[in-house]
Amino acid sequence: MPEAAALEALCFSSGWTAVQFFDAWTEDWFAGYGLFEDGRMLGYIVLSVVCEEMEVLNIAILPEYRGRGLSYPLMFFAMKDTLEGRHLLRKGKAGEGWTSGYLEVRVGNAAARALYESLGFREAGSRKKYYADGEDALIMTIDVEHFRTAEERRSKGRAERRNVTVHAH
Ligand SMILES: CC(C)(COP(=O)(O)OP(=O)(O)OC[C@H]1O[C@@H](n2cnc3c(N)ncnc32)[C@H](O)[C@@H]1OP(=O)(O)O)[C@@H](O)C(=O)NCCC(=O)NCCS
Repeated sequence: MPEAAALEALCFSSGWTAVQFFDAWTEDWFAGYGLFEDGRMLGYIVLSVVCEEMEVLNIAILPEYRGRGLSYPLMFFAMKDTLEGRHLLRKGKAGEGWTSGYLEVRVGNAAARALYESLGFREAGSRKKYYADGEDALIMTIDVEHFRTAEERRSKGRAERRNVTVHAH
């Protein structure tokens, strides 16, 4: 959690603090995952799942590890884990996964948009001047069928072959 908060502060002007991560973790709607190499967190993703609707709240990879294809396995793991409701099972709760999902992304964030499209997200609208600096947000949505199709399309092992693992938190 402190590592995720540190990376959040590095990547976003108004990110979550470690306390906010800890508080969210106890909630049923929260699902958080870290990408690790030799015990060091290289990236993280946080999602919410409410009433079978998933929202990608944030994802970030350490700046020096970007552009190496590490974001896909991290996000794929998180989406599949929540799809199967495993984030709830780890909290001792039975529950459904998601049937649809959405996220907001800066229109100018090419890497994030490419990542989301590779996982099956499609553009569904925009929010004008959504961000504090006046940039528009693009709304992207996904359903299970599109996720499955993207999963089949994506060849295995496309990410750089590093000894990384994804852990749920
Ligand atoms: C968004 C983020 C997680 C993506 O991770 P990454 O390591 O940079 O990207 P990857 O190497 O895994 O590549 C993901 C896709 O983006 C493409 N991509 C990577 N860098 C790119 C760039 N600078 N411009 C355009 N496309 C790019 C890759 O080709 C790949 O697409 P493909 O699967 O169609 O080939 C990372 O850039 C990041 O942490 N950014 C800061 C935080 C952020 O903006 N989070 C998103 C908030 S909505």
